[in-house]
Amino acid sequence: MKQDMLHVKAPGNWMNDPNGFIFYRGEYHLFYQYFPYGVQWGTMHWGHATSTDLVKWTHHPVALFPSKAYDQNGCFSGTALEVQEKLVLFYTAVRYEVINEENVHVIVEDQFESSQALMISEDGYTFDNLASKQQIIPPITDAALGDRTHTRDPKVWSYRDQYYMIIGTKTADKQGKLLFYNSMDLLNWSIVNTYTKSGLGHMWECPDIFSLTDRTSGEQEHVLLMSPEGIQPGMLYPSHAMCSLVSFQEESCEIVIPDKLHLVDYGQDLYAPQTNLDEAGRRVMVAWMRMPKPVEKAGERPWIGMMALPRVIEVEQEHIYFRVHPEVQQYFTNNISLEQLDYAEPFHLQTTLHEHHVLDIGGYRIWLEGGSLHTDRTDVFQGLEQYNLHFQTPEWHGEWQLDIFVEPNLIEIFVNQGQYVLSNVVYDLKAYVSYEGELKCKIG
Ligand code: FRU
Repeated sequence: MKQDMLHVKAPGNWMNDPNGFIFYRGEYHLFYQYFPYGVQWGTMHWGHATSTDLVKWTHHPVALFPSKAYDQNGCFSGTALEVQEKLVLFYTAVRYEVINEENVHVIVEDQFESSQALMISEDGYTFDNLASKQQIIPPITDAALGDRTHTRDPKVWSYRDQYYMIIGTKTADKQGKLLFYNSMDLLNWSIVNTYTKSGLGHMWECPDIFSLTDRTSGEQEHVLLMSPEGIQPGMLYPSHAMCSLVSFQEESCEIVIPDKLHLVDYGQDLYAPQTNLDEAGRRVMVAWMRMPKPVEKAGERPWIGMMALPRVIEVEQEHIYFRVHPEVQQYFTNNISLEQLDYAEPFHLQTTLHEHHVLDIGGYRIWLEGGSLHTDRTDVFQGLEQYNLHFQTPEWHGEWQLDIFVEPNLIEIFVNQGQYVLSNVVYDLKAYVSYEGELKCKIG
């Protein structure tokens, strides 16, 4: 079966969000939004890959596909939970109310309804799409609660003796909203709390909430990740993955979100992240890298969409860090000189960047200016000028230690062990690295 190193890529055709990421029975399972019939978004299936080390991934047949009236037009994003040794997958079931006569795979003007559903797998490899699915939360009919169409992306966890679910929706006046449900048995769910706030986009996709201990103060903190739609109106990517520390009561699900959220990744290609605990109990994030066009190589199926490197989330002095996962860091053990590099394979660069130095990785440029790290992908994003080409981190007046992971279609820059991360999709990187400063280079 097809294997991927480091980054899970669509095994041909279209991939978007990670789904159901979990360490289950000794292996990581990563599902993802998948359209098996073309290089564009369409009727959603769940693709499936597994790994024992978060580095080497093996692809498997499609896990979830439309099979019921309530999910006949798509199995949208969701998450996984181990319950009594079984793997329970929660997802949003989509049913179109109008069929597009010319293309049954796309929606006509938002005329669809969404419900929440689950699928139980005995072992993480068998998925009985006829016998093991169940609708658990029907489409919302009370407009004061949420939107019948845009309510999706269940994240489920257990707390004390109950299960909790967070889902994203929107208010009637187009404001993002969170719904919290709970359940004793996974099948019957009741609403616990709702929360909305203006100025943060019109619908909140893929919400995820979890607790972490601040490594400096020892205080318990709660982190919210979500992907608000329309948070940057006017841009080609108006929706972005955002994060914040929030105040949250575990039982009542009372939450307060501050006015300002932070980008999860300053490259602005990363979207729809979700987290779970790894084998060692670290909070690990996986996320989709949005790609504007497919990668096409002779003799290979064209593919579009890939996952970022898995990142460990930590909180220090109330700052959220996204650090490259230690398994990934350890993969790059062999020092190599730039002259010996094979640019078709992933490599890792390390440096401390200084003002006036430009690091040019095959046409992708990185430099410091005005106290921020800047990047420019103009030369490796040709024909895509309508997208953002220039990016920058927040200001920081200290050292800029960079860990940069490069592969032919993705550059991920970790500043000061995850203080900020800036990742960009690229095309046609050239085979050179030019830099005046000192650079360490490693390969796997
Ligand atoms: C985010 C998203 C989710 C939805 C899925 C559909 O990218 O829009 O909200 O469940 O993708 O593919």
